[in-house]
Amino acid sequence: MTEAITIRRPDDWHLHLRDEDMLRGVLPHTARQFARAIVMPNLSPPVTTAQAAAAYRQRILKVLPQDLDFAPLMTCYLTDDTDPDDLARGYAEGVFTAAKLYPAGATTNSANGVTAIANIRRVLERMQEIGMVLCVHGEVTDPEIDIFDREAVFIERILAPLLREMPGLRVVLEHATTEQAVDYVLASGENVAATITPQHLHINRNAMLVGGMRPHAYCLPVPKREKHRLALRRAATSGSEKFFLGTDSAPHSQSAKESGCGCAGIFNAPHALESYLTVFDEEGALDRFEAFASENGPRFYRLPLNEGTVTLERAPTDVPETIDAAGTAVIPFHAGQRLGWRLRA
Ligand code: DOR
Ligand code: ZN
Repeated sequence: MTEAITIRRPDDWHLHLRDEDMLRGVLPHTARQFARAIVMPNLSPPVTTAQAAAAYRQRILKVLPQDLDFAPLMTCYLTDDTDPDDLARGYAEGVFTAAKLYPAGATTNSANGVTAIANIRRVLERMQEIGMVLCVHGEVTDPEIDIFDREAVFIERILAPLLREMPGLRVVLEHATTEQAVDYVLASGENVAATITPQHLHINRNAMLVGGMRPHAYCLPVPKREKHRLALRRAATSGSEKFFLGTDSAPHSQSAKESGCGCAGIFNAPHALESYLTVFDEEGALDRFEAFASENGPRFYRLPLNEGTVTLERAPTDVPETIDAAGTAVIPFHAGQRLGWRLRA
């Protein structure tokens, strides 16, 4: 049995860091594992300009513990009014690594998102021209559509037509949760890829709803049926370079989650690598973990691979019941469970 695995330093291609105290509380969990992360812009108010993104990056670096070497990669929150010139300038200057499409109303702090794809046509054309990556929250917001179908319908109604119109647009379908997403990405050109979260590899919708409502298993897109989880596990461990690590770690206070209208989001940052590696181990695919965690993402984003390595060993890791994020209690993914791998310090 493999007792330890050493891989090139990994990156997290989808992360929510928040701001202020929460940022200070959650950042070290990510920075101790990952060299870089794509930082989501859904703050309140959202990060919609290059100036706001540069300021947010400074706030992140200011609270980064000195012994940790970590680079935040910033994204622009697209709105109906995004200025293509500001976006392109921010990209050229290295402030933005990508732009994020939130359909308005699809998820946490998406109220200012895009109300119709036609409203950002000029922005998307410019992105296609300059090769800037579009990160997509792929869910429709049509109230007629069942929440469990919203990703599949988004692909059919929005994403596929968009890519037919702009076949060179570089797209990451974030947090893929369905077999349809996996199939679509695999059938698309090399300009289309997807991130996969640890939770969607570990849990299906039963984890959320059987034996009581479990708010800490609730995120968006919601975990789906078992067959979808299995499709995601096959995709992540397949060796295809179209799939890579993106945790979507999304901290909310315990009280905001355990509420009559609980927030969507799973805080998986503290043991993200151990969580993913458990899946690759269960699937007999330890040899494919490095590509998923450390190679496919930078290759897609056309960024250099990281130098240095991290080592994980087969040893029990007890995940705490709760984490103190600079004064706020946050319940982590796998709370109270034991994982079989440990990141060596
Ligand atoms: O579960 C989620 N939480 N999904 C998202 O798309 C947003 C995120 C958040 O910001 O809390
Ligand atoms: Zn997210």
